[in-house]
Amino acid sequence: MKRTHHCNELRPADAGRTVILEGWVHSRRDLGGLVFLDIRDREGRTQTVFDPSDLPADSYDRASRLHSESVVRVSGKVRTRPAGTDNAKIPTGQIEVLVTGIEVLNDAAVLPFSIDDPEVAGKVNEELRLQYRYLDLRRPEMTRNLRLRSKVAIATRSHMDDQGFLEIETPTLFKSTPEGAREFLVPNRREPGTFYALPQSPQQFKQILMVSGIERYFQLARCYRDEDLRADRQPEFTQVDIEMSFIDREDIYALIEGLLKRVWKTALDMDIQTPFKRITFEEALNRWGIDKPDTRFGMELVDFTEEFRASTFKVFSGAIAAGGVVKAMNAKGMASATQGQIETMTEHAKSFGAKGLAYIKVENGEWKSPIVKFFTEAEKAALTAKLGIEQGDLILFAADQWLNACEILGKIRLYCADVLKGQGKLVIDPRRFDFLWVVEFPLLSFDKEMNRWYSSHHPFTAPVADDIPLLKTDPKKVRGQHYDIVVNGVELGGGSIRIHQPDVQRTIFEEILQIPPDETKLRFGYMLEAFKYGAPPHGGIALGFDRLCAILCGTTSIRDVIAFPKTAKGTCMLTDSPSPVSARQLKDLHLEVKAAPPKA
Ligand code: AMO
Ligand code: AMP
Repeated sequence: MKRTHHCNELRPADAGRTVILEGWVHSRRDLGGLVFLDIRDREGRTQTVFDPSDLPADSYDRASRLHSESVVRVSGKVRTRPAGTDNAKIPTGQIEVLVTGIEVLNDAAVLPFSIDDPEVAGKVNEELRLQYRYLDLRRPEMTRNLRLRSKVAIATRSHMDDQGFLEIETPTLFKSTPEGAREFLVPNRREPGTFYALPQSPQQFKQILMVSGIERYFQLARCYRDEDLRADRQPEFTQVDIEMSFIDREDIYALIEGLLKRVWKTALDMDIQTPFKRITFEEALNRWGIDKPDTRFGMELVDFTEEFRASTFKVFSGAIAAGGVVKAMNAKGMASATQGQIETMTEHAKSFGAKGLAYIKVENGEWKSPIVKFFTEAEKAALTAKLGIEQGDLILFAADQWLNACEILGKIRLYCADVLKGQGKLVIDPRRFDFLWVVEFPLLSFDKEMNRWYSSHHPFTAPVADDIPLLKTDPKKVRGQHYDIVVNGVELGGGSIRIHQPDVQRTIFEEILQIPPDETKLRFGYMLEAFKYGAPPHGGIALGFDRLCAILCGTTSIRDVIAFPKTAKGTCMLTDSPSPVSARQLKDLHLEVKAAPPKA
């Protein structure tokens, strides 16, 4: 008694065959003395029919009492469905199996939510779905996501192997190297007060592997970051982590374009166009107000600094006099925004640090706005021309320092796009993918509170060679050899050409980042030491594998492509972790908990 077919396989040509199916009771209907059970397995669904005239009474009774999701083995004969009862939605919709025997392998209790409902994700609280994740994963949508993830992982490995890369595992019990996100620490039982840290990425190990002469390394690496969680961020996540020696940026671009071409073909049977467009960080900010622009729709930002330098509207001319800029954006078709919506947008802008959000509604042949009285005809003409103003438009302004002004309008642009999508005025083809390389990021950013420079990405990124002399004179101007790969407004990955000269690396640590020499030695000494013994020039990249899968699955939440994700609070609802540990365990680890642990 073994299964003969999966539940997606049978067709009218199989009529008359005796088959055995195994799976879960997807749904049950009782109709005119017949019981219909849809049996589901990983591959699909098949309708089975229990006719009391063909079956022993106990089998029929058993079938009529079964709960959904019970596990059964049914045997029977395939027949084509009576005319008019076909189900065109499923591949087996033209046949059914007339049951001759049923074996209940396991009964299921009443379910906490229905699985036989394609809308379940919209109706059921996600925490409940995560608590019963094993049930949630039975839903065909979720099984499809996991299947696609598996395919993409295999295609990735196969492509990297073809390109001569070695897959090498690096430790996940690592050293604490505070830089970037907060780390998860693991206490060491053997030596009180010492800790491992879980790696934020295999960055240091992969660079050491280049010193080891591996030349081409990759890994589907698990990374850990204790940061605020969002739809696109989990405390543990997976990277396609890559490092290569004797290469420049072009080699990385070509490698990743080839890999993504292969992945899109495998996952979606789509041929994507390469090479991808490249834009600089500055252009991305200037035009879209963000370093990961979604270029699938317009509403680009336009600069009006020159036009408003001498404006009588002091909010604008004042910001310019203080070294800032005036940027504007045309939210096409949003003039109908209510006062409430404009206030919401203004509050939104303020929450991103804006001082206000000046606007003009272009409606019924007039410009409605509290500020238009300040504008000269020439200023109005410039706005009309550069923003392509038409009836029905909403013009929004930010006057601030350049980066702030760009970022504020960039966020408002995305907010407007969401509103327009909700109203059906902005429709984006779900099979459109806008890939971009964003390049020439500033190597360093300034932390006003701490009054010091920090690495925009990580301290191993090489400066653009021409800019090295600026390191000591004008650090703000130094561009890094960093690149991000962006698709549809999502930062899919990032990487850089690394510093391979120990003296440049030391300058960055000690002179620029102001890490005291003894601390540099403590944290990165092993790297500087390794680099003394013949480090090849090298560079690499890491793609967020969960984000990649989410994009391919058409979902905005990476939780939908992770079998057992954590909630926004970092909880695993299924296992209820993190959880308190025993006094004994704490003692072994030389730890004492000051706050009382929550009651179990
Ligand atoms: P970075 O920190 O940019 O670079 O990370 C690379 C990519 O990993 C993904 N990612 C995440 N995905 C889910 N949850 C998170 N919390 C999360 N954090 C990051 C993003 C991101 O683009 N070592 C460098 C790479 C290098 O320089 O080679 C690094 O980790 O998609
Ligand atoms: P106020 O003169 O401060 O009342 O501002 C007039 C309009 O300009 C209001 O709609 C404000 O939201 C807007 N506003 C104020 N400061 C800024 C700014 N820095 N950038 C853009 N708009 C602003």
